[in-house]
Amino acid sequence: MSLVCLCSVHGSPGVTTTALALAGAWPEGRRCLLVEADPFGGVLAARFGLRDTPGLASLAAVSRNGLDGDMVWRHAQQLPGGVTVLVGPPSADQAHAVLRDLASALADWCAGSTEVDVIADCGRLTPGSSTDVALQQADGVLLLTRPTPDQLRPATYRLTTLGVSGLGARLLLVGDSPYDAAEVASGLSVEVAGVMAWDPRTAGALCGAVGGKDLRRSPLVRSAASLAQRLAVELPAVVADGSGAAPAPSAFEVGGEGRP
Ligand SMILES: Nc1ncnc2c1ncn2[C@@H]1O[C@H](COP(=O)(O)OP(=O)(O)O)[C@@H](O)[C@H]1O
Ligand SMILES: [Mg+2]
Repeated sequence: MSLVCLCSVHGSPGVTTTALALAGAWPEGRRCLLVEADPFGGVLAARFGLRDTPGLASLAAVSRNGLDGDMVWRHAQQLPGGVTVLVGPPSADQAHAVLRDLASALADWCAGSTEVDVIADCGRLTPGSSTDVALQQADGVLLLTRPTPDQLRPATYRLTTLGVSGLGARLLLVGDSPYDAAEVASGLSVEVAGVMAWDPRTAGALCGAVGGKDLRRSPLVRSAASLAQRLAVELPAVVADGSGAAPAPSAFEVGGEGRP
């Protein structure tokens, strides 16, 4: 199992949208679970008309004495296009409390299980964030930023801090204007993991807007699929054992509804 954490430090660059696109485009043959671990509160349930429970809050309530895969899957929900998600509680107070209780156990489960890859939407990082423990155990940390000076500067500072604490964190750009990946990498001496295509129409569909066609050919989903392929090569192999969630790759086959 691999744990990939997506996060930001400033603004709202597109962490949730990218996490969903990545989970939906995850390579065939590898199971994927999206965990909405944003300390500022989850939005996916609201965006897709799901209930807040089951989710992280209900999982936290039953896992005080430990966590296993069956419990995790029982508290997951399916998004309309098939991505399996543990939705986060909508309020920041509750999200913070739940993550404080659950983040360590979830990260341990990730480390000990071989059945699935986990993509965690860790939202915006703050000093001493309740998701720090998940970041510490992650196989990959992607720090998202738009390539604008106001987002790049705080992101680069935070990347340095994450690097100092031993994490293999990289920037993931959302869009390539005004600076493209090569300019960011050379200008700031940072590692850039990739670029998510700037694609407001598909991003809108991934935020729950109805309308649109087959998302698989969209620039945003193509960029997510390309990143997913590259990440899957870097990450430890998973063992499919026939239990738990269904494989994820068909998540964007729902042409016509505009939903993942
Ligand atoms: N690749 C993208 N292209 C265009 N707009 C995007 C993209 N990713 C996200 N957005 C838009 O940015 C806004 C914030 O997205 P969201 O994923 O909620 O950000 P965050 O989780 O970082 O707060 C939404 O309006 C979303 O549609
Ligand atoms: Mg978000």
